[in-house]
Amino acid sequence: MDLITTGYGWEFLIRFLHFLAGVCWIGVLWYFNFIQTPFFATELGGEAKSAMTRGLVPNALWWFRWGAMFTFGTGWLLILMYIGMDGMSLSDGLMTRILTGGVMGTIMWYNVWFIIWPAQRDYAIQSALNVAEGKDPVPGTPEKGALAGRASRTNTLFSIPMLFFMGSARHLIGFNEGSNDMIYWIVALGLILAVELNAVIGTGTRQKYLASVSGTIHAGLGLLVVLYVVGVLVNS
Ligand code: HEM
Repeated sequence: MDLITTGYGWEFLIRFLHFLAGVCWIGVLWYFNFIQTPFFATELGGEAKSAMTRGLVPNALWWFRWGAMFTFGTGWLLILMYIGMDGMSLSDGLMTRILTGGVMGTIMWYNVWFIIWPAQRDYAIQSALNVAEGKDPVPGTPEKGALAGRASRTNTLFSIPMLFFMGSARHLIGFNEGSNDMIYWIVALGLILAVELNAVIGTGTRQKYLASVSGTIHAGLGLLVVLYVVGVLVNS
């Protein structure tokens, strides 16, 4: 009964909901990036694109955006409970690791709700519906599609270090312990923001790593390694 009669039990249940929702969200994100988008680029995919955009994508986007919302909400609720109930401080090593993942997760949540979903709803899906009814596509659809594509690839990139740092919170003891060092946060936040801004406002050559699935995965692994090394160096 500890599960429902103690604060720790509730934290456990919320953490369980948190990663259920997280798996739903990141699962659909990876489906879009690793499976659906490459399929749309094939001949058969090109033929199926309009039907899929009208019939399948809206449902996939429902699970995607609400998965993101529940992951985000339960994640920050847990952080508030750790601070309020357990007296954990923001400068705790465990908190540094959680927040490194949480900051990336929060930017990813922003990308879903404020870039990818509006672009899909108001442009890609609406255009596919218009064309199916013999009307014109919504003006600006290719540009919005490209922006949403970069945001989606950037979320895939972030998903790798985000999961590493979140999972490391209780399972990689010793790393970034007791730090919350100013230098660590300046470098970490600077890098994370640079990656995000590059997706949203950059154009062309600086975004080459987002042009392929393999480039995106390598960039995600690269960011993980850099953040890890900085975390080790500031504590050595
Ligand atoms: C959106 C921002 C996010 C915030 C603020 C956040 C916050 C948290 C917090 C506070 C914990 C508890 C850590 C602990 O007690 O050790 C946690 C754990 C976890 N989170 Fe997140 N999270 C976010 C996004 C995600 C996403 C997108 C996923 C994707 C699957 C995810 C997967 C996990 C997993 C698997 C754990 C369990 C780690 C463990 O117990 O070892 N989180 N997260």
